[in-house]
Amino acid sequence: MTLQVELLEESFEKIKPRADEFATRFYGYLFGDYPEAQPLFANTNMEEQKNKLFKSLVLVVNNLRKPNELTNPLKGLGARHVQYGALPQHYPMVGKSLLKAFEAILKDDWTPEVKQAWIDAYAAITKLMLEGADYPEEIYRM
Ligand code: HEM
Repeated sequence: MTLQVELLEESFEKIKPRADEFATRFYGYLFGDYPEAQPLFANTNMEEQKNKLFKSLVLVVNNLRKPNELTNPLKGLGARHVQYGALPQHYPMVGKSLLKAFEAILKDDWTPEVKQAWIDAYAAITKLMLEGADYPEEIYRM
């Protein structure tokens, strides 16, 4: 899959000055649309979590032109998510909520091309995180 690096970079530059609003919206959509995800964050400091989440997106976008740099960090992130209780089934929920937050902030700049670029990027991120996660195969059939 070839990622649309320029579209991802340009659209993310517009999100950066509104990082906190973006992250607040993201978790608002995640917990509103998928209440089953909320208990995983029961003991989480959400202000810190918003920063961590955003920083991980910055890392991804900063390394789109050298994607090999992303393989190990994203596999490691996926491995840690097993401990956090994240299951493969949760990844589409996070993806949908991220896209919704992008759309809310980018408005007219959220074109079909930009949307597709982020769908592809999220699929690539998920693939690496799940490769690092090493779930038993039954979990994918649940
Ligand atoms: C693109 C996908 C995702 C990204 C980039 C991401 C990013 C992060 C980051 C950077 C952290 C901070 C801790 C660390 O670095 O290990 C974190 C923690 C966490 N994430 Fe994710 N995450 C993703 C998907 C998910 C999914 C699918 C779930 C399941 C609902 C989830 C639930 C959590 C939880 C529960 C924590 C721990 C919070 C705590 O420390 O209390 N994440 N995530």
